[in-house]
Amino acid sequence: MGSGLILGIESSCDETAAAVVERGAFTKSSIVASQISTHAPYGGVVPELASREHLRHVVPMTRAALEQAGCGIGDLDSIAVTSGPGLAGALLVGMTYAKALAFARGIPLIGVNHLEGHIHAVLLEDRQRRGAGPDLVSDEGSGLPMPALALVVSGGHTHLFLARPPAVGGVAIGNWRYALVGRTLDDAAGEAFDKVAKLLGLGYPGGPWIDHLAQYGDPRAVPFGFAQIKNKAHLEGKLPRTKGAMTAPIADLDRHFLFSFSGIKTAVLRYVEVHGMRASCEARQRALMAMPNPCWRDALSLCDKQTLDLIASFQHAVVGDLLRKTFAAAEAVGAASVLVTGGVAANRELRVRFTAEAAERGLPVAFPKLALSTDNAAMIAAAAWPRFLAGEFAGLGLEANPRLTLA
Ligand code: KG4
Ligand code: ZN
Repeated sequence: MGSGLILGIESSCDETAAAVVERGAFTKSSIVASQISTHAPYGGVVPELASREHLRHVVPMTRAALEQAGCGIGDLDSIAVTSGPGLAGALLVGMTYAKALAFARGIPLIGVNHLEGHIHAVLLEDRQRRGAGPDLVSDEGSGLPMPALALVVSGGHTHLFLARPPAVGGVAIGNWRYALVGRTLDDAAGEAFDKVAKLLGLGYPGGPWIDHLAQYGDPRAVPFGFAQIKNKAHLEGKLPRTKGAMTAPIADLDRHFLFSFSGIKTAVLRYVEVHGMRASCEARQRALMAMPNPCWRDALSLCDKQTLDLIASFQHAVVGDLLRKTFAAAEAVGAASVLVTGGVAANRELRVRFTAEAAERGLPVAFPKLALSTDNAAMIAAAAWPRFLAGEFAGLGLEANPRLTLA
């Protein structure tokens, strides 16, 4: 093994990212070109525009990541790229570039599942904290007690996985193992944040806007509830309806760990209509769109108490549902710690409430730092490290798989 430097490339959705990570623990560089301003006028990701933007950014981002890390392509031990799940055209851009680079320079290629990447955003920092020394040649599992229940919660995914470090002959090298414990049947939690924000005339993506505005409202003003998923007999053998990762039929999953976020979106819509708030939402949207660079502070001055209460209540209900099911699942499967990762893991109420609940239960909980919560390439390079140690490389036949499953 040489330097232990892995270049990560991520282009599965609306962020083009490149990073260099040393031995799965030390981030030498991590840069992200966000496409928020491209998609904001449409209130959601437009796949064709995403592919076009990835094409524009993938080469300069990779060059900048190498430059910031102070290394050349020749110093790399491997190139890791997100192979799925995600938007087909978007994945293809990063994959094609990574394959070309790997082929041209004779560098081994590693395909990484985006969801595994999110989990390794937490493990990367854990390894870093433990100060994995320069002599670290094996992935020694994790300082966090294992197995861990991982809640991956973003704009495309809401999944619970039980994650176990590799253990081959007592040495932790190779693939982590993941068992799917729960998932959403319809919308992802982040998607609900985005759709509710759009309905209320706020900016895109909606999560950070709602996160900031919620602190000014009363979270108990509107009692949104989540019905327990009672009977999934009619769903047996079927794939969930969610757009993002069609990862697995839900027939084998405990219904207590299934999520559904399309109902609360409809409940917010009904509340807006019943309370005659529609016109003020549209006015807010027009006012924000007329501003050059609107932020949540601009929105705050455009929201009355009723709107702020609605926002706070929505967030409180979503976080409460994530919290209850995650900790119930952790207990049921005997997890020794909880990881929360993905864009929604940036949410402040979520961090506060998960931290308090974990303390009460005496169960360690870990989140990635904010920059690693949302999509990035450091997590892709970090997830590739155990595979690199095990010599698990992909051939140039590696293909993008928009519905790639984990577990
Ligand atoms: O992980 P990510 O960057 O991309 C996907 O893989 O989907 O997650 C983006 C999602 C969006 O839905 C966004 O609204 C949500 O994460 N998000 C948040 C916050 N920051 C981002 N949701 C709630 N609170 C936040 N602070
Ligand atoms: Zn993601």
